[in-house]
Amino acid sequence: MSPAAVIVLAAGEGTRMKSRTSKVLHEIGGRSMLGHVLAASQTLLPERLVVVVGHRRDQVIAHLAEVAPDAVPVVQETQGGTGHAVRVALADSGPLEGTVVVTNGDHPLITGETLQGLIAAHERDGNAVTVMTTEVPDPTGYGRVLRGLDGAVTGIVEHKDATEGQRAIAEINVGMYAFDGALLDGALKRLTTDNAGGEEYLTDVLGILRGDGHRVGASVVADWIETQGVNDRVQLAAARRQLNDRVLERLMREGVTVVDPQTAWVDVQVQVEADATLLPNVQLHGGTVVRAGAQVGPDTTLTDTVVGEDARVFRTVAEGAEIGPEASVGPYTYLRPGTRLGRKAKAGTYVEIKNSEVGEGSKVPHLTYVGDATIGTGSNIGAGSVFVNYDGVAKHRTVVGDHVRVGSDNMLVAPVTIGDGSYTAAGSVIIKDVPPGAMAVARGQQRNVEGWVERRRAGTPAAEAAKRARENNTQEGDK
Ligand code: UD1
Ligand code: CA
Repeated sequence: MSPAAVIVLAAGEGTRMKSRTSKVLHEIGGRSMLGHVLAASQTLLPERLVVVVGHRRDQVIAHLAEVAPDAVPVVQETQGGTGHAVRVALADSGPLEGTVVVTNGDHPLITGETLQGLIAAHERDGNAVTVMTTEVPDPTGYGRVLRGLDGAVTGIVEHKDATEGQRAIAEINVGMYAFDGALLDGALKRLTTDNAGGEEYLTDVLGILRGDGHRVGASVVADWIETQGVNDRVQLAAARRQLNDRVLERLMREGVTVVDPQTAWVDVQVQVEADATLLPNVQLHGGTVVRAGAQVGPDTTLTDTVVGEDARVFRTVAEGAEIGPEASVGPYTYLRPGTRLGRKAKAGTYVEIKNSEVGEGSKVPHLTYVGDATIGTGSNIGAGSVFVNYDGVAKHRTVVGDHVRVGSDNMLVAPVTIGDGSYTAAGSVIIKDVPPGAMAVARGQQRNVEGWVERRRAGTPAAEAAKRARENNTQEGDK
């Protein structure tokens, strides 16, 4: 059954991050921490998704509009504690029928399955409240789960309020709960601030409902790593590594070869198909897709880029590019947004391409800038050429046809069209259209001034060499 509501708590200050950015907006694996919690929450298909915001609320509200427009932000003006936060979240809706899930916004590793497990246990046992718990090696700082002699959960005590004996308990409150909506509403009204934190603790709801004779239960998570919260940047890095390990493990089980899982970083939304290979030092970001049989890396960063089947991409930076099947890219190649390489196309060493199509089998092998161009099929762009797309005010397009041979060191000054099957001479500055099949030569005529070095650079090693060459030639001629 889908819950009546999921309430995500994200109003806290997060002082230990020492950041201008809201704690929950710090990114790991291609999403904000809050984004991860929301993604897990959305798998529950809640009737309403509420996010309690407070500190740096403008940032958080703007972020929500972008990544989760279905989430409703509710402002908690002052942070009076987790219980107060839930009270504020429900102030407009009043008591809700059904299950209300509450989660902390700073637990980015939580999965939809684990939240579903919490709800399943809650509804199966007919509990008034079910708290997610786990055992951690170091429970310092966490709320401890109190159980009676029969093992039943009796309440939660915060670390600050706990006795020595209670602090020895390893089972902790993860900070995620399923509540009966109607009972939650009543219990929230009875919370006090009579504790070490001087706040309304959501955790006190357990003791209150238990005291009223309701069933209180726990859903114990075996893998404590998944339940970890992030309070500082050391924990942020640890969570990032955990999430990455999880993504890579999934990919490897799906048939992807990851040569060095220590240096491959893959965002959660990236798709990599079976039989693709990720070599060391690869970062795949955003909506990147790597098709079957492709090889990416080493030393490659791809953002929102599609790598076609059996393509090879190495030592490359690409963003918003589409690399065709069996294409070859790298080393030292920069593909910018709007680059589309066709099947078996090549973008080689020290080549930058943006907003351009390179047709099937066409090659841009060395030292070239291609901007705002359409290149047909089977064409070759000579080394050291520049597509001169900018006249200082506006950008213009260059069209290169099929089976064209652009000579080395050409400047193609846009707007210009190089017709099908034409050639251009090395060193040309092409400013006029080239008709199909023509050879365009656009450079100065060569003029040799005989004897210039011996006359004008007398006494230099060059002049000596020239003199020896002239004398040898004369002797050769004498024979
Ligand atoms: C809370 C739990 C503790 C649990 C731990 C797990 C309480 C009283 N304690 O402690 O038992 O082991 O989480 O991480 O709930 N927040 C608000 N408004 C507030 C206060 C907090 O939105 O007024 C948000 C924070 O932004 C954060 C979450 O609630 O996302 C938890 O608050 P935090 O202060 O970190 O609680 P802990 O002391 O960690
Ligand atoms: Ca916390």
